[in-house]
Amino acid sequence: MNRLNIKNICCIGAGYVGGPTMSVIADKCPNIIINVVDLNEQRIKNWNDPDFDKLPIYEPGLGEIVKRCRNKNLFFSNLIREKIQEADMIFISVNTPTKKRGLGAGKASDLKWVEACARQVAQFSKGHTIVVEKSTLPVRTAEVIKSILNEVEKSLKDNSEPKTFDVLSNPEFLSEGSAINDLLNPDRVLIGGENIHAINSLVEIYKNWVSEEKILTTNVWSSELAKLTSNAFLAQRVSSINSISALCEVTGANVKEVARAIGSDSRIGSKFLNSGPGFGGSCFKKDILNLVYLSEFFGLPEVAAFWESVVNLNSWHQNRISRLITKKLFGTLSNKKIVVLGFAFKANTNDTRESAAIQICKNLLDEEAYLVIHDPKVKFEQIEIDLEKNVLGNDSIDKNKLNISKGGNWHFADNLNKIFENADAVIILTEWDIYKKLNWQEVSKIMRRPSWIFDTRSILNTNDIKELGLNFWQIGDGIG
Ligand code: NAD
Ligand code: UGA
Repeated sequence: MNRLNIKNICCIGAGYVGGPTMSVIADKCPNIIINVVDLNEQRIKNWNDPDFDKLPIYEPGLGEIVKRCRNKNLFFSNLIREKIQEADMIFISVNTPTKKRGLGAGKASDLKWVEACARQVAQFSKGHTIVVEKSTLPVRTAEVIKSILNEVEKSLKDNSEPKTFDVLSNPEFLSEGSAINDLLNPDRVLIGGENIHAINSLVEIYKNWVSEEKILTTNVWSSELAKLTSNAFLAQRVSSINSISALCEVTGANVKEVARAIGSDSRIGSKFLNSGPGFGGSCFKKDILNLVYLSEFFGLPEVAAFWESVVNLNSWHQNRISRLITKKLFGTLSNKKIVVLGFAFKANTNDTRESAAIQICKNLLDEEAYLVIHDPKVKFEQIEIDLEKNVLGNDSIDKNKLNISKGGNWHFADNLNKIFENADAVIILTEWDIYKKLNWQEVSKIMRRPSWIFDTRSILNTNDIKELGLNFWQIGDGIG
């Protein structure tokens, strides 16, 4: 098989994708030197922290891999220029959020970080370099990257060393919280490209641990579009089941029973049918909006409207939950203590990006609730940023102070001790295991009556909770 023998990889972007992906490649390919570089100095410091519990990303299994490879063939640094120069393959793994202003604002991807990477690669690389799009990008972004790189190829003076490039698309399908397992045992690896030698070079890397039939190769545009489509289909399933949860609640059906019944049909399948507080995470919303933008751009408004409804349903669903809580608590939350269990967008991650908890907590604060928020992995400082609340005084970093805002106020709780005392309600927003194991009998004794438990993740047993004299609402349960 014709290929270039890759000895040195540079990954630009040490985030949720760059860090874990490169750690696994380093572990599986001990003969390749891998440098992960980032502009963010603090992030790199955290990746190099001697205490492996302090890595910037919490992912089960990540610490052990970093321990095995770091400073052997895996290096984290801010040396962007040097590491680009040394590399024969460069992964672009930077953020691609939704554009906030200008053309396409609110929908299109902001490609300024990707473009900056392409310019850095164009400037600093040497010889032949394979540039791999690892970030999720709008279809035809490779064209932008190529045109920046081609300019350099053309503009080189006769006496300078030649620079040449290949561009591949290799989107990442890992899910947070199970990233290491997803990387080690992927359903498929997707590589889009034009040059067979470049494609084969990347195939050879993955073949170190992924069987060849799981490595799919396509043209660049199919690969770029398949990534957006994959997230859109997954998010669409969540919105579909969440829409049905609302219907279950008013008709006496139960969404778990409905999900089991439809999921048994092998054409539908049982995965991704858990109704919850609405999908979060950094990608679903932004990737669908990107698809919406592209559809509009290419003159397909019906296609755009179809996908946009998935996002609209999700926002409606989050607001539905906070309205429902307010109604159950007699229409007012003023002076009521509500314990919020979980702030991360799903269990086993410290990531709060687009977490349903943000919108739901904001709505409850607008109703002047007093929230006590707990999450085993999310830090107080992150919640403070997400809730955008003005904290009075100069001691905003003192998490023991009450965070007073124009609506309600909130406290951060490091642990679960005593937080339920005199609480009017408990809302489970993230399905962390520790919440499943709570002693609800003890909790019920110290809450203020009438007390409510709202389980948006269906992790509790309805009868167990009701037996304790607590009022109980579970997502999509029209029976209980
Ligand atoms: P992230 O924000 O966690 O990390 C991106 C990093 O890139 C940041 O640390 C930032 O400082 C760095 N960066 C930006 N521009 C840079 C530059 N010019 N030079 C050096 N460093 C630079 O983002 P993420 O969650 O890792 O996502 C990265 C991409 O992967 C996105 O396109 C996302 O859609 C996609 N993706 C994410 C996931 C996920 O689970 N988070 C899964 C699959 C795909
Ligand atoms: C998702 C995709 O699953 C990955 O394949 C993809 O690589 C990634 O996005 C990305 O491109 O960023 P992730 O966002 O980490 O991964 O997490 P998911 O497990 O997909 O969950 C997303 C959201 O949907 C979470 O808020 C989760 O709680 C919710 N969800 C998921 C449900 O409410 N019900 C379900 O049945 C499944």
